[in-house]
Amino acid sequence: MSHKHRITILAGDGIGPEVMAEAVRILAAVECTCGFTVARTEHLVGGAAIDATGHPLPPETLQACEKADAILFGSVGGPKWENLPPDLQPERGALLPLRKHFGLFANLRPGICLPALTHASPVKQELIAGGFDVLCVRELTGGVYFGAPKGRHEENGEPVALDTMIYKKSEIERIARVAFTAAMGRKKRLLSVDKANVLASSVLWRETLIEIAREFPEVELSHMYVDNAAMQLIRRPGSFDVLVTENLFGDILSDELAMISGSLGMLPSASLGTCNSNGLAFGMYEPSGGSAPDIAGLGVANPVAQILSLAMLLRFSLGEGAAAEAIENAVALTIQEGFRTADIATGLPHETQVGTRAMGEAVLARL
Ligand code: IPM
Ligand code: MG
Repeated sequence: MSHKHRITILAGDGIGPEVMAEAVRILAAVECTCGFTVARTEHLVGGAAIDATGHPLPPETLQACEKADAILFGSVGGPKWENLPPDLQPERGALLPLRKHFGLFANLRPGICLPALTHASPVKQELIAGGFDVLCVRELTGGVYFGAPKGRHEENGEPVALDTMIYKKSEIERIARVAFTAAMGRKKRLLSVDKANVLASSVLWRETLIEIAREFPEVELSHMYVDNAAMQLIRRPGSFDVLVTENLFGDILSDELAMISGSLGMLPSASLGTCNSNGLAFGMYEPSGGSAPDIAGLGVANPVAQILSLAMLLRFSLGEGAAAEAIENAVALTIQEGFRTADIATGLPHETQVGTRAMGEAVLARL
């Protein structure tokens, strides 16, 4: 049976367009070999949209996303737009509204350090021998990012600013189920990260995780305070399997995880809404790294994170698991055979240093 899917491509700023071009070529190749079609439309977002229309998330872009099964996102932002009012900046004016609008509460951020790339990690080699594979599940539409009240006022002539860290039990339950389900497909170990020794929202978080654990008796649940988790991640990354945490803690820990993996340019991410009856969810898929304005347009950026984001999209939103696996295997083979973009090159003899296009070609040839 041949399926017809629809996606919206938002390449954005910086290296976004050049790495997206490689992902799109890979998509065309798996369409042919795996027997499905993906109708795709490309739209403006971020700084590129500001320059063209004055807004980082123009209405036509949002409408195009509403008609699609998923969004393949590049990256947004850059120095050119940094001094605009907050709501008109690429990150806060496009990324956060997209997450909220589509209810993308579950953010999956894999932090994988392949054995072949451990030397690219800034962590001492003896601490990461053999590499590691951690999945960070971050709550993405709640907590202090969106909690009310929020804002600034004056008290006795002095400026005061506040944010509210707030969670409803139902919000914790649904992200917990996503994390437990992910753990079931892996080593069945789930670490919940909170600050239950200080924060009321964390106490509810921990209670709820313990309750939901009863639905997943095979998964071993443990808890850690976020400050300790930040330390343990560097000290023994190999001991983690799946980590679940609230929005702000997840923002911070997922950057730490990306850094210690030594390959930010390799890491994809998925932001998912509620699953339908087929187990598929609307989602937005983007590289974990940013728009990297310093190397934009030079043809040296690593396209792997964008290509692996496409693989996640195929798996979680389109149900094309075989195509996703084919892409992931082709990427693994490409790395194994020594192809390296500048970010992961270390000058070892078996390495071939290549640019964005050639890296895409190498993956394409191994599909
Ligand atoms: C991320 C980013 C965003 C966040 C910013 C750009 C708003 O850091 O996706 O991790 O804080 O969520
Ligand atoms: Mg972040």
